[in-house]
Amino acid sequence: MAHMNRTGNDYLADFVSLKEITGIVKQVNELWKKEDYSIGLFGKIAYDVLKKSELHKEKLIENVLKKTAQAKLLPPQLSMERNFGYPPITLYAGDKFIIDIYFWVDPHTAVHNHSFTGAWVLLQGASLHNKFTFKAGSTYGGISTGKLSLESSELIKNGDINIIKPDSELIHQVWHLSCPSVSLVIRTAINSKLRIYFPNLEVLSPEYLSKTTIKKVHLMQFLAESAHPLEKSFIANSLKNSDDFNSFWLLHKYFGFTKNISKIHEIIKLSGQNYPWQADLIELFQSSHQVNLDLRSIRDEGARLFCALLFSTLDTEQIVKIIKEYAPDRSPLETATNWIGRLEKSGLISFSQNKNIAPVLKFLHEAGKLGLHQTTQSAAVN
Ligand SMILES: [Fe+2]
Repeated sequence: MAHMNRTGNDYLADFVSLKEITGIVKQVNELWKKEDYSIGLFGKIAYDVLKKSELHKEKLIENVLKKTAQAKLLPPQLSMERNFGYPPITLYAGDKFIIDIYFWVDPHTAVHNHSFTGAWVLLQGASLHNKFTFKAGSTYGGISTGKLSLESSELIKNGDINIIKPDSELIHQVWHLSCPSVSLVIRTAINSKLRIYFPNLEVLSPEYLSKTTIKKVHLMQFLAESAHPLEKSFIANSLKNSDDFNSFWLLHKYFGFTKNISKIHEIIKLSGQNYPWQADLIELFQSSHQVNLDLRSIRDEGARLFCALLFSTLDTEQIVKIIKEYAPDRSPLETATNWIGRLEKSGLISFSQNKNIAPVLKFLHEAGKLGLHQTTQSAAVN
């Protein structure tokens, strides 16, 4: 934390009653000092301390809320945005490491790597933890083309701890199945760059966008929302004057506002640019059109898990295995049809009107082929 003049202990004084945190800070400091503050050993130390602390059994969340409400001064906050965590709160900001707590409403994180090392614990809720690898092809500025592959997918329950390795050593996505979910991380300061992953692309995080580009994005949103006659020429002109990384996020954010692929084609043509990663970006936009489901509005844990499994590109056998693990007392198909029924009842999906529900029907079809039909599907598909 470059901007700090006070020591970690000074900040602890502000949060002094959070004994769970002071205990962790003391243990991590002692253990890490013995290892001569080796960055490579920090993740294991953070893991061991979290394991011993069993924070999910403490009243930490309640205490954090109470102490935050009472606080005159919080420790310096690592992030004032809500890009990761809703919100993230920094509980401890020392010279050597940081403790953040994250509150979650959104159903999942982006697929990302890490600019630091450490360990995290799920304090409340249940998650689906997907790990990936990325085989890079060519690199253009902050963008690489390549292929993202899902390596593993596992259920995480409260109290489970995972080590965070830096850079491409851990590329993952967490689906927060429960709403609310709360997690806590012990981490080093920033040592490298955060990257976001898509099926065929690895891109530097938008948090590195220049202030100039951020203002262009804001203007772009205004122009798009007001259907301003200068909308297309403004964006085309911005692309002409940006590098690959800034152009990628300009286009990505523009698509987020408009959901209009033909406008994207038109604007790129108008700009005279021909990006080597263009086809992958368009494919990404096209695939986001295929499933029309507002995941954020799903608050039901089972329904979220079902969506998480379908969106995680797992094959049916893997999906069935995880559903069995989640609900061991029922047949996986009974569990899944129950979730789909709840999704339909809530009005979030409709089989008669929504043509984009192919993955769900495919699952039911394939589950049938695997001989898993043990109960009626009527609850879900009527
Ligand atoms: Fe992460």
